[in-house]
Amino acid sequence: MNGKAHPSPSAIYPGSFDPLTLGHLDVIERAAAVFPHVLVAVVVNPQKREPLFTLDERKQMIHIATKHLGNVDVEDFRGLLADFAKRAGAGVIVKGLRVVSDFENEMSTALMNRSLSGIDTMFVPSDPKYSFVSSSLVKEVFFLGGEIDPYVPEAVLRLMRAKRAILRPTEPSEEKHPS
Ligand code: PNS
Repeated sequence: MNGKAHPSPSAIYPGSFDPLTLGHLDVIERAAAVFPHVLVAVVVNPQKREPLFTLDERKQMIHIATKHLGNVDVEDFRGLLADFAKRAGAGVIVKGLRVVSDFENEMSTALMNRSLSGIDTMFVPSDPKYSFVSSSLVKEVFFLGGEIDPYVPEAVLRLMRAKRAILRPTEPSEEKHPS
């Protein structure tokens, strides 16, 4: 130690969060334990496809699931992450890696983001118990009638049930049959 102060950078954790999973939450908690502040940045228009949850719903589920953490905020962004991260004053971008193949895409994305903004990306390896958990699989399992309790926070489960009730009000398995 040289006795000089070393200011810690704040972190930005971007994603679609459609919906937030326990894997995402694990990365947020671990980042929040290392960095003085974590900004969860919810992309307005995910590139993959039309999101199931509205932007407000995605932000709300993150707010609720992270309320035990005093140094986490949630904001949305459009356009380039690099621009938003700079505007937000982030010192580092945090990304979770679930499997080795994630690294291939994330590596070039990280290098592009650093080239555009000067902000480096730090990777957090997923907890093995969540390495197979993704938002898209959670949605598929849920809408095909599987249990997703072990993979999403309670707030997300409630929102998913509400969403299913709106999308499929007359699901055959839920219909009341007169006896
Ligand atoms: O949860 P996701 O869908 O994997 O998150 C992807 C996200 C939002 C991190 C990524 O699509 C993104 O950064 N979008 C912003 C657009 C952008 O900056 N594109 C250039 C990347 S080098």
